[in-house]
Amino acid sequence: QQARIRHEVEENLVQLFAIEDEALRTTITAARKAGLPAIQINPLQGKLLQVLAAACNAQKILEIGSLAGYSGIWLARALPPTGRLITLEVSPAHAEVVQRSFEQAGVADRAEVRVGSAHESLPQLVDEAPFDLVFIDADKPSYPHYLDWAIRLSRPGSIIVADNCIRAGQALSESALDDQGVAGLYQYNLQTLKHPRLRAIALAMDEDYTDGLNIAVVLPEA
Ligand code: DHB
Ligand code: MG
Repeated sequence: QQARIRHEVEENLVQLFAIEDEALRTTITAARKAGLPAIQINPLQGKLLQVLAAACNAQKILEIGSLAGYSGIWLARALPPTGRLITLEVSPAHAEVVQRSFEQAGVADRAEVRVGSAHESLPQLVDEAPFDLVFIDADKPSYPHYLDWAIRLSRPGSIIVADNCIRAGQALSESALDDQGVAGLYQYNLQTLKHPRLRAIALAMDEDYTDGLNIAVVLPEA
């Protein structure tokens, strides 16, 4: 009963605040045809990213982990025509899907996919910093490392968002640290709480309340 109500409320929220258009639906279809897993963010998370982009007056956005470009489309659409999204993708095959997604959504003028390990791509972004918004949705054991770079590439007022930071509660305690992915996510949450330059919260944002986003704002230097 509770689950059914939650499901209906979620549907109402999506219909009112985060309706998907043809380009977003096409991206999901293309991802499935290319054999990519259907683990993209949901429409409400996409809309929240757009609200956060507006809150920090985003002109430059960095995404770590592109998947098929679904979140990238939401992000790119939050930018002004002169804005720029750089999304880092380790898989060349996925990156081709991303490029086509950006083209069919009409955002290829402002959204660029860079192929390679983020561990190698991030140090090359120093000259293009600061980024106003960073969205992390990639390999989970590397999240703490990606957070260090996100902070380094940001400015006071930048917003750093990371997907999958709840994991049915496992990423919120020390109970499942033998899993490297969960351990990375737990460490990420702790780092956002302990860091003197961050103010952070995690929000469950799926309909069964099991996973969601960590949202951290970069504070001015004391
Ligand atoms: C997985 C990764 C994700 O980013 C996600 O949102 C869901 C699942 C995974 O690796 O299983
Ligand atoms: Mg994810």
